[in-house]
Amino acid sequence: MKSIKVGLIGTGYIGLVHLEMLRRIVGVEVLAVADKNRELAIRAAEKLKIPKVYAGADELVGDREIDVIHNCAPNYVHFEINRRAILAGKEVLSEKPLSLNSRESAELVELAKTHNTLTAINFCYRYYPVVQEAAARARRGDLGEVRAFLGHFLQDWLFFKTDYSWRLDPEIAGGANVIADLGSHWCDLVQFVTGRKIAEVMAELHTCLPKRRKPTTGPLSFSSQKAADYEDVEVKLDDYAALFIRLDNGARGNFTTCQVAAGRKVDIELQVFGSKESYAWSHVHPNALWIGHRDRGNEIFYESSQLQAEETQKYAALPTGHPMGYHDAIYNLFRDYYGALAAKREDRPYNVHFPDFETGHEEMCVIDAAVESNKLGRWVKVQR
Ligand SMILES: NC(=O)c1ccc[n+]([C@@H]2O[C@H](COP(=O)([O-])OP(=O)(O)OC[C@H]3O[C@@H](n4cnc5c(N)ncnc54)[C@H](O)[C@@H]3O)[C@@H](O)[C@H]2O)c1
Repeated sequence: MKSIKVGLIGTGYIGLVHLEMLRRIVGVEVLAVADKNRELAIRAAEKLKIPKVYAGADELVGDREIDVIHNCAPNYVHFEINRRAILAGKEVLSEKPLSLNSRESAELVELAKTHNTLTAINFCYRYYPVVQEAAARARRGDLGEVRAFLGHFLQDWLFFKTDYSWRLDPEIAGGANVIADLGSHWCDLVQFVTGRKIAEVMAELHTCLPKRRKPTTGPLSFSSQKAADYEDVEVKLDDYAALFIRLDNGARGNFTTCQVAAGRKVDIELQVFGSKESYAWSHVHPNALWIGHRDRGNEIFYESSQLQAEETQKYAALPTGHPMGYHDAIYNLFRDYYGALAAKREDRPYNVHFPDFETGHEEMCVIDAAVESNKLGRWVKVQR
């Protein structure tokens, strides 16, 4: 079969992760990359032997040989690149958050439907094998009805005054920082594991460091490189957010996220309490699922290609006992997406669900509700 040709836009931190994981997908060839910073695109192309480099997103989307666009540019261009890619007849795998607001994400969902575009969004944390396992157990009824839940997503890479990122600039990031950046991932996790929708939120967004020193020569996201010069800037977007959440079955929960939590690198936790048992998952020990019981001993279930629910075994791709990681989670998502794409091209059915633009829109609706709730100081219903 003819290989699937990919063009990737944005060769920064996550773009390079996509490029590496795409090399593991059989039948897929990365044909071109583009970045606003041409030097970075050239470097990526040379390192990974990618034949074409474009100066910008428009030129890449215009390449008729390309079948799929991976959109790894910052938030402010997600909508426009995704829109143009759909209109050009490409399939699209986008980074999160899907757009700057739910009006834009709703438009993308409609557009993708009209053009029969196969979309995906990189909510990768749900692709750890035991997160898939928790969701499968909940689906088959082991959890019972979810009653309560809680969790956090904590990081420290914005801890110092001299830490800066485009994520703090509303022109590039949108109306929210941490609640969109990390909150979108966590809200996807809770909705995926419980199979429930977030119906209502009460949010507090806060800027712990309202004055920062921005490097005038810009290191990339998460870079430890020191800048030579800085300028003083006022920061309006949140680096801390807390949500009270009601799910659509009435379950109650809360979530805290923050990027100034010294020592916490990628500390994600989700605890879900059902009417039959409980689950807890931590990204700090991502290969273990805690299963809690009232009337017998608790369990720790380790990821396993043999012992997981049948439909999730493929996500624990290594022989039992060898742990999977972040790259593998992204690979798992790509495998589901490209499996579906191969089926679409061959007109075969493919009954696997992965996060798509509808999922991305769901999370944009939650983010919009959180921003609104913070402004109004009261509970806000999520409008879909
Ligand atoms: N799913 C995940 O786990 C995950 C992790 C990190 C980032 N992300 C998302 O990926 C996106 C990129 O984040 P990052 O951390 O890689 O940022 P980054 O700053 O490291 O990289 C972004 C790249 O995009 C380029 N760029 C900027 N504007 C552009 C434009 N108009 N056209 C083409 N290229 C442009 C920049 O030059 C840079 O090389 C963000 O939306 C972020 O939320 C997702």
